[in-house]
Amino acid sequence: MTKKTVRLAILGTGGMANVHAERFNANKDCAVVAAADVDLARAEGFAAKHNIGSAFSGIKELLRESKFDAVSIVTPDAFHAPLAIACLKAGKHVLCEKPLAVTYPDAKRMVSAAKKAGVINMVNLSYRDWPAIQAVAAIVRDGEIGDVRHVEASYLQAWLASKIWGDWRTTPGWLWRLSEKHGSRGVLGDVGVHIVDFATFPVGPIASVFCRLKVFPKAPGNRVGEYVLDANDSAVLNVEFKNGALGTIHTTRWCGGHANRLFLKIAGTKGTVEIDSDRTTAGYRICAGDDLDKGQWRDVAVTEVPNNYQRFVKAIRTGKQDQPDFVRGAELQKVLDACIVSDAEGRPVKV
Ligand SMILES: NC(=O)c1ccc[n+]([C@@H]2O[C@H](COP(=O)([O-])OP(=O)(O)OC[C@H]3O[C@@H](n4cnc5c(N)ncnc54)[C@H](O)[C@@H]3O)[C@@H](O)[C@H]2O)c1
Repeated sequence: MTKKTVRLAILGTGGMANVHAERFNANKDCAVVAAADVDLARAEGFAAKHNIGSAFSGIKELLRESKFDAVSIVTPDAFHAPLAIACLKAGKHVLCEKPLAVTYPDAKRMVSAAKKAGVINMVNLSYRDWPAIQAVAAIVRDGEIGDVRHVEASYLQAWLASKIWGDWRTTPGWLWRLSEKHGSRGVLGDVGVHIVDFATFPVGPIASVFCRLKVFPKAPGNRVGEYVLDANDSAVLNVEFKNGALGTIHTTRWCGGHANRLFLKIAGTKGTVEIDSDRTTAGYRICAGDDLDKGQWRDVAVTEVPNNYQRFVKAIRTGKQDQPDFVRGAELQKVLDACIVSDAEGRPVKV
């Protein structure tokens, strides 16, 4: 281990943590030195699988007994705020899974704690890793499609309508996502946050939102054991962006045939650009310039970009904060909170 190697701990060792371990283990500037989970046996199994030196039964033991520089927080959403704040107070750099928190006030507390600690803070909006979204953001920013007028964005999943990712009825990793008591804000918080980021990263902030959320019946008494299934399954947002463009953003877990599809169409005064992850995440299509009057589309392939895990390690080594940071995570949280008020009160809400 060289002096500058970032010593990283992974907190929460369920499904998504495997991606973190693989990505960080593949980075020569990083060593994953510890794993912790409230389920110690799971942490131990995870450590053995990913060749990680030590395993702990939670944050207290981790902070007390392990020497590390940075932490990757991969627990269910409800624990992001308390765990991140504890790690920040201990001076650790933090990569936190999305959504940054469950509420905007909690997200703001995380931003304050990160500022006070003066460390690197990032939120894992993993679709920023797709070359297509980085390229499209640059196209819109550079004015290639003119002034944005209209946006269509959707994130479709199929796991409530199918067994494409296993049986949600018997999988705690899916069940907590369906239950408000377990800290979930439903599909809106879980993947709505991704699609709001996907749309607003190129187009810019949302000024107001009119949102409908829906929970569909899916089990007797809408309950499976300790899990009350009360968190939203589908979310439909009508939005106005600060630049005046209108848009629809929607997401559901009931869309059989699309395991995990992100779609984005941005139409401007000089052209339209589109990403469809079911086609490719390493390219986009565009109708602009000479093609505009013919209504012709051009497919454009783009090259790989560094992923969030690589950029987090680089930011620590260089001391230069990178995006998406906690401030960005909190901005998105503010939109989600506005959606919840809008749905409850049946009116558009300013963000
Ligand atoms: N960026 C992405 O694309 C992406 C994809 C999947 C999941 N996620 C996010 O990752 C997080 C984890 O999701 P998952 O699917 O891995 O969930 P999961 O239920 O499979 O795993 C969560 C793990 O956290 C552990 N845990 C719970 N409370 C803890 C605590 N206080 N301290 C330590 N460990 C604790 C659980 O025992 C479990 O092992 C969620 O916030 C989710 O939104 C992000």
